[in-house]
Amino acid sequence: FCYMSGWASQIICLLLHLPRPSLEMAAPKPITRLISHVILDLDGTLLNTDCIVSQVLKPFIVKNGKKWDSKKAHKFVGKTPYEAAAVVLEDYGLPYSTEEFLSLINPMFSEQWGNIKALPGANRLIKHLKSSRVPAALASNSSRSNIESKISCQQGWKEYFSAIVGADEVESGKPSPDIFLEAAKRMNADPSNCLVIEDSVPGVTAGKAAGMHVIAVPSVPKRTDEFSSADEIINSLLDLRPEKWGLPPFNDWIEGTLPIDPWFIGGPVIKGFGRGSKVLGIPTANLAAENFSDILSDHTSGVYFGWAGLSKRGIYKMVMSIGWNPYFDNTEKTIEPWLLHGFDEDFYGEELRLVIVGYIRPEANFPSLESLIERIHEDGRIAENALDLPEYAKYKESPYLRNPLQEGAATGGNEAEQEFI
Ligand SMILES: *[C@@H]1O[C@H](CO)[C@@H](O)[C@H](O)[C@H]1NC(C)=O
Ligand SMILES: *[C@@H]1O[C@H](CO)[C@@H](O)[C@H](O)[C@H]1NC(C)=O
Ligand SMILES: [Mg+2]
Repeated sequence: FCYMSGWASQIICLLLHLPRPSLEMAAPKPITRLISHVILDLDGTLLNTDCIVSQVLKPFIVKNGKKWDSKKAHKFVGKTPYEAAAVVLEDYGLPYSTEEFLSLINPMFSEQWGNIKALPGANRLIKHLKSSRVPAALASNSSRSNIESKISCQQGWKEYFSAIVGADEVESGKPSPDIFLEAAKRMNADPSNCLVIEDSVPGVTAGKAAGMHVIAVPSVPKRTDEFSSADEIINSLLDLRPEKWGLPPFNDWIEGTLPIDPWFIGGPVIKGFGRGSKVLGIPTANLAAENFSDILSDHTSGVYFGWAGLSKRGIYKMVMSIGWNPYFDNTEKTIEPWLLHGFDEDFYGEELRLVIVGYIRPEANFPSLESLIERIHEDGRIAENALDLPEYAKYKESPYLRNPLQEGAATGGNEAEQEFI
């Protein structure tokens, strides 16, 4: 089977006629009553907690004379600390009991809590609910004191929530409904009027058992059938459409695009997957994704756009896919930038600088190659038009794009063909 992934790997799935789990089954089941309250999970839903797992474990494992394997990091998602610890001990053959190991690494995790970043769309969602006066609670399976440490560095979060409930404040943790029921009770809300947002399977189970509406935001590519009890599955918080649930809509989309805090990456153009765009006719100028695994882990998969600077040529409009790399068990992400310009020759090795300024859509499932190609071209048109808006056009002047440019190279001359993925 194929997991959700970038353009090139989508093509591989299509060519092999492999089913890809759809994220667009997403039409919520009809709601009988309007949502009045929102209940949010913390780890993996609002906070990128997975990121610090690697940061803590890697040095510990290396210090114990073992080789760190980043491909194993996803095995801990949705497990209890005890279960995750047992997996680490077995995978790496470390000479500790589970209790010993936890007592050694728990203090290291506590030190890192201030460094956990908010996931894309988390601050936007909290600000939106606040300005729309929708009451929201935080319902986490962590202990109350751990929750407080984790959110203390996120500006405005603690004050915002009408209620915060930890696993140590109820009889039993997720997948039992207790945490969610307690959150509803503290907000004086009827469970059937509550909308839960959760990234884990036990969390979804807990929300449904509480009689609530549940949106799943799986934090790593998973078989979506694991989340079939959720009322809706979305790729990231950026894709949340509150109006589907009777809540006020976001009003920050412009012409089919969502502005994001710009981010910057660059490096020499490399050869890519060697397959996709010969079929697609969409040449991409690829960067070595393994060199950006940290920054890519901060961004969800999907289609984005921005500006691209080529050191010997100039600055071009660009649309790109961030996907999960099927060659790395879907645990590493890939980026596939498509420069919206006709080049006559390739330019492997040339320095490419990107500033990514907006988001278009999540990855989707396509019934045929034609429909995938049509959609990518539509993404290109959306990006072309949007980049003329002042909101996005201003980033064309980013010094980062121009830094490696040589004098006089920005116009004409040797146009080059982009690589075929
Ligand atoms: C939630 O926490 C409780 C109590 O600490 C624990 O028993 C349970 O296994 C946890 N659930 C998950 C999904 O981590
Ligand atoms: C990846 O990063 C290393 C270290 O900075 C660099 O030497 C190498 O050229 C980069 N590889 C590619 C293909 O960008
Ligand atoms: Mg979670």
